[in-house]
Amino acid sequence: MTDYIIRDINLAAYGRKELDIAETEMPGLMALREEYCDSKPLSGARIAGSLHMTVQTAVLIETLTALGAQVRWASCNIYSTQDHAAAAIAETGVPVFAVKGETLEEYWSYTDRIFRFAGDGEADGTANMILDDGGDATLYVLLGARVENGEKDLIATPQSEEEEALFAQIRKRLAQSPGWFTRQRDAIRGVSEETTTGVHRLYDLHKKGLLPFPAINVNDSVTKSKFDNKYGCKESLVDGIRRATDVMMAGKVAVVCGYGDVGKGSAASLRGAGARVKVTEVDPICALQAAMDGFEVVTLEDVADSADIFITTTGNKDVIRLEHMRAMKDMAIVGNIGHFDNEIQVAALRNHKWTNIKDQVDMIQMPSGNRIILLSQGRLLNLGNATGHPSFVMSASFTNQVLAQIELWANGDDYKPGVYILPKALDEKVARLHLDKIGVKLTQLSREQADYIGVAQDGPFKSDHYRY
Ligand code: NAI
Repeated sequence: MTDYIIRDINLAAYGRKELDIAETEMPGLMALREEYCDSKPLSGARIAGSLHMTVQTAVLIETLTALGAQVRWASCNIYSTQDHAAAAIAETGVPVFAVKGETLEEYWSYTDRIFRFAGDGEADGTANMILDDGGDATLYVLLGARVENGEKDLIATPQSEEEEALFAQIRKRLAQSPGWFTRQRDAIRGVSEETTTGVHRLYDLHKKGLLPFPAINVNDSVTKSKFDNKYGCKESLVDGIRRATDVMMAGKVAVVCGYGDVGKGSAASLRGAGARVKVTEVDPICALQAAMDGFEVVTLEDVADSADIFITTTGNKDVIRLEHMRAMKDMAIVGNIGHFDNEIQVAALRNHKWTNIKDQVDMIQMPSGNRIILLSQGRLLNLGNATGHPSFVMSASFTNQVLAQIELWANGDDYKPGVYILPKALDEKVARLHLDKIGVKLTQLSREQADYIGVAQDGPFKSDHYRY
């Protein structure tokens, strides 16, 4: 029996060619393969992976298996899979459950499948590690275990289509495999989390005493959030808008909601394309940064009826609301590059007239007669409408992921439940692994200089509170 669900296994050869190219741009991951190919520090690890099933993720998966892990994989978004990458992975025998455009029901059933390893002595197998992006795989297990242990009312009334599909999947698993969620939760040695939104969820769980295992916050490695979130979005935001709409960007007025790491990259992306960019913020520090980077800082109410392109980057909910969309000009473009689709009130548009233009592009008619173009139904557009970030920046992110998995698998018992970040020496190592590829020459500190600024000659070069 084939242990995968993908679009088409015949796409594997194309996927493999793109993987081969991606490897040449992912020096961090390739260096880890070299360093650990003999010692195989992930032997025995059964990793349930929930992260956009792209070409770059395929290189991550093959690095984890080269280091000895068994892996099962799903995408963490219904639109982000690259079907040829999924096919290339499935062809190698690694179970992958990911189809671009899968339904929400399929999404949660695929999330369930990533945990179902054979060979741990039980009829219904378990994973012992989670590699998560946005926290859905972690949520599935922890919520399922709480319901299994008597908190039935937790899944009584779904608040959204997402929750409805999640709760249905939990009910199904509870009926099919009594006791499985609890066994699965107890089998987890640790989780490494990729993104800002997932990290928020982990800190929240820990605060409430609901996180039973250690977690490594990969997002807040400097070589992740200050690179992927920023420089990644700088390349992939405009790529997504262009592939979706082919609209002339130069001269248009674009609004970026949020000026955190993703907002900084997104505003730079649009400015680079010649758009006149405005920013909204709630945080005075980020608002001041935006202003001093040369962006006009406005409220959405002030610009809803005059801007051409609206992009949310906040990780917050209800940022672009129905009243904003009703005020927009004809053919305004609306999209989100934050993790979840609730940044835009898409649900409130469901009773409007929708015309599908092509996959992940819809035109929606407002009561005034004006139309808006909505990208990826409000889900992250750089992965829905384009192919996400380029390989080089994902190499930095995923090198942190692999180091986090090694640390938790080897030393998980030394950590109490809680959320940790990787030590600065490893962060600097990740950066160092990416220098040669782009011809960066480092200056070496002399002993006297190192003593003078109070660091070791080979680093770490900064204190933990340094902000970059
Ligand atoms: P961040 O915390 O650095 O930035 C978010 C910013 O939004 C903050 O400055 C905050 O003050 C601001 N904000 C919050 N509510 C707001 C509101 N109502 N109006 C205007 N501004 C508001 O977070 P980061 O790292 O920039 O991540 C943002 C989101 O993007 C998260 O959901 C994250 O998971 C996701 N992400 C997406 C990526 C992609 O490839 N699409 C890559 C990396 C992260």
